[in-house]
Amino acid sequence: MRSSVRDSANMRQHSKVEQILSEFKLHEEDLQVLMSRMQAEMERGLHLETNEEASVKMLPTYVRSTPDGSEVGDFLALDLGGTNFRVMLVKVGEDLDGQWKVETKHNMYSIPVDAMTGTAEMLFDYIAECISHYLDQQNMKHRKLPLGFTFSFPVRHEEIDKGILLNWTKGFKASGAEGNNVVGLLRDAIKRRGDFEMDVVAMVNDTVATMISCYYEDHNCEVGMIVGTGCNACYMEEMYNVELVEGEEGRMCVNTEWGAFGDTGELEDFRLEYDRVVDEGSLNPGQQLYEKMIGGKYMGEIVRLVLIKMVNENMVFGGEASEKLKTRGSFETQFVSQIEGDSSDFKQTCNILRTLGLQPTMEDCHAVRMACESVSTRAAAMCAAGLAGVLQRMHKNRGEDILKITVGVDGSVYKLHPYFKERFHETVRKLAPASEVTFIQSEEGSGRGAALVSAIAHKMACLIGH
Ligand code: GLC
Repeated sequence: MRSSVRDSANMRQHSKVEQILSEFKLHEEDLQVLMSRMQAEMERGLHLETNEEASVKMLPTYVRSTPDGSEVGDFLALDLGGTNFRVMLVKVGEDLDGQWKVETKHNMYSIPVDAMTGTAEMLFDYIAECISHYLDQQNMKHRKLPLGFTFSFPVRHEEIDKGILLNWTKGFKASGAEGNNVVGLLRDAIKRRGDFEMDVVAMVNDTVATMISCYYEDHNCEVGMIVGTGCNACYMEEMYNVELVEGEEGRMCVNTEWGAFGDTGELEDFRLEYDRVVDEGSLNPGQQLYEKMIGGKYMGEIVRLVLIKMVNENMVFGGEASEKLKTRGSFETQFVSQIEGDSSDFKQTCNILRTLGLQPTMEDCHAVRMACESVSTRAAAMCAAGLAGVLQRMHKNRGEDILKITVGVDGSVYKLHPYFKERFHETVRKLAPASEVTFIQSEEGSGRGAALVSAIAHKMACLIGH
């Protein structure tokens, strides 16, 4: 008797939880709507007269489809875009079979918050200091190497080695950088230090670096995507569609900066109260609204807000949240992966919730897992709608029956979440049936890609220079 009373109470709780979470469900028609809105914004971003007002900026990268060979040798690659800054030496060359061989040795430096949110000088001085440290460590202080810079923010390029930062994203806020040439900021910081020299030859977005690094394994790789702290994609667009750059021949890689999709209202009927709270509490309110529904910087926080809602409705934790759970940012995105990957005994879930000062029952654990699943499944579906939009566009551009395409992917959410990939792939294939898509994960894509682009750029610069 007693247990059946408990069972029915549990069932009631379960269905109340399901009801709260039902808002996160996206149906195929919703995704079709998202996909066509994304395509419309991409189109607006490509046109000269609408680019200014388009949310999806479609930034030309000056990485073209026809590289005529590249330099062989050592390159220094920098990677700035997440909480860590990485420096690496990349040896570009051919092995005995004439295959590309790329080797790396890297070092990682965590970026102090005051460098992320202070002044641009502070941030770039810190970067120069890290490079100096790395060169000491590798005994390379005396060498002036060509340098490729993976800078994972929206940049309006004028050349491959020149471009201004449009706006910071992902919690960066260093003042005096927006509107300025990023390569210039780096060169100035290196000059200020004065203890080493570098020849900065190329700056690329992480999506571009990922695409290029995968291209060397698979020449069908003409799309790069990141689902990590942030979320973004690039792809090879026909030059005649890239109105912001002169010339009609061949293709150029376009950095879509699709994370800003929704910033002119295209997501209003999809954003939930949790999304609004996340946005309002961020360093860039009103910006990157699509990214804020997908990226790892925000996913854990969305789950936390859902849990708070469940507590307030007396559905979990006996109606009481701990101080920790009430604290912004306390529910890390990696918890989402760990909880969804947990076995049915909820051992790890319990541990995580205990570290947050809670004393969960099995039912609580169950509800938390359902919240994680809803948030991460929505993220995978939203992201799939974006990629399917890109693929459909490429399919139309190229006019082939079937678009055979490879997408190079990187990022912690994609790589570390136990089910994100599968759900994402399935939805992409459903939404873009005319594409035959292969997904490959890039390893060290940011560094290798930057070095490979630099190797090409350096050769071209040398040819022009002589
Ligand atoms: C943000 C940046 C974008 C980057 C992405 C993934 O969306 O604006 O440039 O590619 O994060 O790191």
